Amino acid sequence: MSDKIETKKVKFKVFRFNADTDYLPKYEDYEMEVTSEEVMLDILNRIKFNHDGSFSYRRSCRHGICGACAMKVNGRSTLACKERMFDLIDLFGDELTIEPLSIKRAVKDLVIDKKDFWDKHNAVNPYVVADIDEEPESENIVSPEEAEQLLDADYCIQCGACHYACPVIEINEEFFGPAAFAAAYRFSADVRDSDDERLKTVNEMGQGVWDCVKCFECAEACPKDVNPIEKITKLHQMAFKEGIAENNVAVRHAVGFEKSMAKRGVLDEGGLVLYSEGLGIVKHIPVALKMFRKGKIPLPWNIPTSENMDEIQKLMKSSSTVKF
Ligand code: SF4
Ligand code: SF4
Ligand code: FES
Repeated sequence: MSDKIETKKVKFKVFRFNADTDYLPKYEDYEMEVTSEEVMLDILNRIKFNHDGSFSYRRSCRHGICGACAMKVNGRSTLACKERMFDLIDLFGDELTIEPLSIKRAVKDLVIDKKDFWDKHNAVNPYVVADIDEEPESENIVSPEEAEQLLDADYCIQCGACHYACPVIEINEEFFGPAAFAAAYRFSADVRDSDDERLKTVNEMGQGVWDCVKCFECAEACPKDVNPIEKITKLHQMAFKEGIAENNVAVRHAVGFEKSMAKRGVLDEGGLVLYSEGLGIVKHIPVALKMFRKGKIPLPWNIPTSENMDEIQKLMKSSSTVKF
């Protein structure tokens, strides 16, 4: 294996903005040779140390564990201290645009105001709630099997990449967001935890897990592979298990989905809307008629039944952990 250091020329467009003095942001251009040994954070440091000392960004650990250096390169979220320059060049070529995680929250260059993120994190009681004996006679042991139930949610470093990639966060100020849900799951799945409120809090409509649109952006954005959407699904299941899933549109949508699959092995879109919305379906009639006419959804009597119903029912039985 060769240990020769290679170099490549890259054009950077770097987001610059000072909320105290600027009305609009601008992009500064830099052209540099980058080496096969460098990560994105080295380039940010070179811009600051060699070109413009006023350039601002957050960083602390340089080891991918503090979450401070999350940012976007060509629209993709990443940790600057973890992202190798040559990997970025392989992915995007030699023109890279560097931006903060959220342009509308930019305070100074790549530094953003994360208040909404931290407020939502705090709202889900992100700690083990337990009645601990101050002078215990034995350790409170968590077995490896019990620790595995956290599903790596404890790897979250609160970088905010998933939160600011989530489209619901941008349109619904109440929505807690994927990182808060991952934290809620992490502590609710902890065998030592006895918090009664957390699961109820993340089940409330508007702010809770039922307002997630399941776009998977959070899973894509996470640099630690926490997979927040998986934790959201787990919180749905916990809500059913604990009997706190309320009779609302989103919950009925999940139940209707399961019923449709159990009955025909295919999704009955019209039936699903009827089941979820009840009389509220009236408002969808004009759109439904258009969709019927264009053949986008079948008429109720034309909905097929899968030929593999036995197989589908077996799969549903083996994969379902909750009874609706
Ligand atoms: S899957 Fe849900 S939480 Fe994740 S980004 Fe999409 S809407 Fe947000
Ligand atoms: S879940 Fe991943 S992307 Fe979201 S805050 Fe935690 S580490 Fe960052
Ligand atoms: S500096 Fe800590 S995660 Fe990058």
